[in-house]
Amino acid sequence: MKKISARAQAIEMSGIRKFFQAAKPDSINMTLGQPDFVTPDHIRNAAIKAIEEGKTGYTFNAGIPELREALSDKFKNENNLHYSPEQIIVTAGAGEALFIAIQSIVDPGDRVLLTDPGFVSYEACIQLAGGKPDFVPLTKDLHIQEDILREKLEGARLLILNSPCNPTGTVESKEKIRSITEAAMDTGVTVLSDEVYEHIIYDAVHASAGTFGEDVITVNAASKTYAMTGWRLGFIAGPPEYMEQCLKVHQYCQTCATSISQYAGIAAYTGDQSCVKMMRDEYKARRDILVSGFHDMGVKFPEPQGAFYAFVPLGKERTQKVMDAGVIVVPGDAFGPSGAEYARFSYATSRENIMAAIERMRPVLEV
Ligand SMILES: Cc1ncc(COP(=O)(O)O)c(C=O)c1O
Repeated sequence: MKKISARAQAIEMSGIRKFFQAAKPDSINMTLGQPDFVTPDHIRNAAIKAIEEGKTGYTFNAGIPELREALSDKFKNENNLHYSPEQIIVTAGAGEALFIAIQSIVDPGDRVLLTDPGFVSYEACIQLAGGKPDFVPLTKDLHIQEDILREKLEGARLLILNSPCNPTGTVESKEKIRSITEAAMDTGVTVLSDEVYEHIIYDAVHASAGTFGEDVITVNAASKTYAMTGWRLGFIAGPPEYMEQCLKVHQYCQTCATSISQYAGIAAYTGDQSCVKMMRDEYKARRDILVSGFHDMGVKFPEPQGAFYAFVPLGKERTQKVMDAGVIVVPGDAFGPSGAEYARFSYATSRENIMAAIERMRPVLEV
C-alpha cells in the first residue's frame, strides 16, 4: 500500500474531463471550457520571434517587466484598477494564480465563501490549503443570493467572486459587485475576484471588485480573452503584502511563467484588440442560436450574459437523454451539489455543431 497524504485524498479529479473523454467520434462535444479559435496571428508570431531570438531562459519570478507594465496599463484602462507593475505576478494561467492566492492567505480551518455551483478549482484549492469551503447558493435565475452571503460573511477569511461565471454564464451587475465587495470589506473578509471571462460578455457590463475595496485580489488570464488556454499565461494582482507572499509560493511551485508565452502575452496585451471583439461577437451569435433553439423546444431559462456556457435546467433524466442522442455536456453536479438539476453546455464550438446539437436534442426535449 502506498501512503497518500490526506490533503491529496481529500480532493477529487475534475468531473469535466471525464465527460470530455466520454465523447465518441460522432458525438457533438459541448463539454470543454476553451475557445475553439486558434490564438491570433500577431500573438503567435511574437512567440515565434522570441524563440528565434533565443529568449528561452528563465525570466524574473514575477514575470518580464515589459509584460507587467502592459498588465498594469491594462488594469488601468480596462478595469479602472490601479496596480503598479510591482503588484502584479505573471503565472501559469489563472489556475496557478488561484492556487498561490489561496495558499498564501488561507490557514487551516479558515472559512472560505464560494458559490454552489461554481468553478471546480476553487473547492480543491481551498481544501489543499486546509480551509473550509462554505457554499453560497444561487437564486433560481442563477445569481448570487446576496442575503445568504451577507449572513455568512462574519468570521469568514475569504470570498471568491467569479463574474462572468463558469458554469452559469451569469454576469453580476456593477451595483451588486459593489454592494457585496463593500459588505466583505466592512466585515474584514478579503475578496478574490476571478475575472477570466471579463471580455466574453454580451449585453452586460463587467465590474471589477477591486474598484470597490482595497482588500481585493484580482485574478485574470490571457487564456479565454485571446484564445490562449494552452500557453498557460495568467496573472494576479493585489495589495503588496499579499503579493510578497504569493511570489514565494509561485517561486517554489512554478519559478516563472513560460518565457515564450510571456513574450506572446506582451503582443496580446499591447497589440490590436480587434480579435477580442471578433471572438466575442461570434460567441454571442452562437449563444443566440443555442438559447433560441432551447426556447423553441420549450426549454426556458434566463439568457446567459457572459462566458461561453449555458447552464440549462434539464434535470438528470433529460441530461442523460441528451447524451444518449450524441450531445456530450457536463452534468451540473460536477460544479457542486446544487447543480444537479442542470447541464452545462459549452458553446465554444462552431455554429454548425450547435445547430446539429439542437436537431439531435429536439426529439428528446420537445414538449
Ligand atoms: C472561472 C475560471 N477561472 C479560472 C480558470 C482557469 O484558467 P486558466 O486556463 O488560465 O488556468 C477557468 C478555466 O476554465 C475558469 O473557468
